[in-house]
Formats: sequence, C-alpha cells, structure tokens
Amino acid sequence: MSSPRKTSPESVRRVACVGAGVIGGGWVAHFLGGGYDVTAWDPAPDAEARLRRLVDAAWPALEQLGLAPGASPDRLTVTGTLEEAVADAEFVQESAPEKLELKRELLAKLDAATPAGVVIASSTSGYPMTDMQTAAATPGRLVVGHPFNPPYLIPLVEVAGGEHTDPDAVDWLSRFYESAGKSVITMDREVPGFIANRLQEALWREALHMVANGEATVADIDRSITEGPGLRWAVMGPMLTFALAGGEGGMAHMLDHFGPSLKSPWTRLEAPELDKELYDAVVTGCDDAAAGRTVADLVGERDRGVIAVLRATGRLPGTGAA
Ligand SMILES: NC(=O)c1ccc[n+]([C@@H]2O[C@H](COP(=O)([O-])OP(=O)(O)OC[C@H]3O[C@@H](n4cnc5c(N)ncnc54)[C@H](O)[C@@H]3O)[C@@H](O)[C@H]2O)c1
Repeated sequence: MSSPRKTSPESVRRVACVGAGVIGGGWVAHFLGGGYDVTAWDPAPDAEARLRRLVDAAWPALEQLGLAPGASPDRLTVTGTLEEAVADAEFVQESAPEKLELKRELLAKLDAATPAGVVIASSTSGYPMTDMQTAAATPGRLVVGHPFNPPYLIPLVEVAGGEHTDPDAVDWLSRFYESAGKSVITMDREVPGFIANRLQEALWREALHMVANGEATVADIDRSITEGPGLRWAVMGPMLTFALAGGEGGMAHMLDHFGPSLKSPWTRLEAPELDKELYDAVVTGCDDAAAGRTVADLVGERDRGVIAVLRATGRLPGTGAA
C-alpha cells in the first residue's frame, strides 16, 4: 500500500518529467503552458539544448491554446540527476525509451527517489503497468498515463493501473490530468496497446501491407485519410460516423447493410514483414511527401492545423459551440 497522497490533484504546482525526448519534451511544454514549475532530467548529453528548442518551438501553439497565468519557459529547471528532478515533485511523468527492462529499472529508481505518496505515471505506448512495476518497492503509485504526440496539443491521455497499482492512484492521476487540461480515458483493465493505439495499429498494419504490395503509395495512404475519413474523425469517432452512414436507420441499418462485408477479405490483420524494401519504400515515400519541408516546418504546420480544428470544433477556451 502506498502512503497517502499529500497533494490533491487540483493543487499540484511542481511536476517532474523524466526522459525529455519527443514525448517527455511535449509533456514539459504542456505543463509549462499550464503554469506549473517543471523539473526535467534526461541522461543524453544534448538533452537540455534539445528540450529548450522543443519548448521554444511549441510556445506559439501554447500561446494560441491559452497560457495559464504566470506560465513561462523560465519555470523549467533541467537537473543534473534524476534524484534532484523528483526531490520536490508533486507528480512525476516518465517518458524514457520504450524498452521493458529500462522502464522496470527506471520506475524502481524513481519510486525510491520520489517523495512518498506522489503518483508516478509512465508514457509507455503499450507495456502493461503490471509488467513494468515488478522491481519497485511501492508499486501502488505507478500508473500508465499514455499521451499522444504532441502532448501539449492532442488532448487525449489514457490512464490504466497495473495489478499492483492502488485504485486511488488511478483516480488521482485521472483527476490531475483533467485539472491539467487533458481529456482522460480511465481504463478499468490493462488492454494491450490501450484503446487508441489498438485502433491506430490496425490502420498502420493495413497501410504497410498496401505499400508492400504496391497497392497504394505513401502519398495515397495519407491523402485517403486527410481528404477522407480523417475529416470526419476530428468531429465524431468512427462509431458515430458509421451510424450516420446508415442514414435514418442509423447503426442498425448500417450493420444490416454492411455487416456481411465484414466477412469479405478486406483486411490482413497479421503484420507485414518489415523488410528492407518496405522500410525504404515508407521512408522514401515520407521524404517525398515532405517535399523539402524540414521537421520543424512540418511540426509548425501540424500544430497550426490541429489548433484550427480544435478551434473550429469548439474545443479551445472561448470557442465553445453555441
Ligand atoms: N513518439 C510518440 O508518438 C509516442 C506517443 C506516446 C507515447 N510514447 C512513449 O513515450 C516514451 C518516450 O518516447 P519518445 O518518442 O519521446 O522517445 P525519444 O527517443 O524521443 O525520447 C526518449 C528520451 O529518453 C531519454 N533516455 C534514455 N535513457 C533514459 C533513462 N534511463 N532514463 C530517462 N531517460 C532516458 C533519451 O535520452 C531521450 O531523450 C516511450 O515510452 C514511448 O512509447 C511515444
């Protein structure tokens, strides 16, 4: 059993982010924009410079989303050790590489160094917490908090505890993320890949099969979503979208009408062999699609586009649908 939580989810002011790459850096930006004091630690020699560049690049998007009073990049402290990063933390977000043994050891170290009762979340994309919490002395406070890239812009975070996680740590984390401006799905069990990655993975496998078989180019695949279902999905999920495909008969008509085609061999759920040919085709296809735009150009383009969608669908402060 973990110690009682000292800080309520709504009164947290100091957050530690451990691992500060794409996702950890995105979390840092999110929490800075929310007016938190953030400490960060990452063992890479160039981590601090990389992190500060990421925060600077994200700041225009954070300004458009609406900064909390007092929010500033100056409230980021990059520490020399993991222990310093978490010493005064009221919440810890771990975003180290997706390697099971590394996560196990790191979560045990974080557990040993973090004040008692403080919840520690892992950004893992797919490991169940049950498998990651095995080496920790007080595993009850370890919870999965799975974000989407970039965490400062995409609202969703999926929360799930492991076999040895205290239910109150799961509740605390969900309330904390909500008060930090996230849209939270709290899962009552550990589903491999959680919810959204299961769905993304199915699409990703089919896309790779189509490239491998020469059925579609990388550009065709991207356009098929951005000019097609992707436009609807930003407004309604795949279920309600399909219910509308049933017209006035709704989902029942949709199932009666198209249910039999579920048995047609449209999809190949086995992953394709990621051989060199497929690897090169996907990488080259993405380079061609970028057409000379740098990663920073594409990040800016994506951020502006997502903000425009959030604004258009009433999901930014002050843009609530009438
Ligand atoms: N990239 C995504 O779209 C995405 C989305 C959601 C979740 N995630 C998850 O977030 C986590 C981080 O992924 P990423 O994409 O940011 O990877 P990344 O490679 O960009 O960053 C990982 C960072 O961890 C640092 N690191 C290495 N060893 C470490 C250690 N022992 N302790 C702390 N930090 C260490 C690295 O220096 C690097 O800066 C992974 O668990 C990943 O599955 C990634």
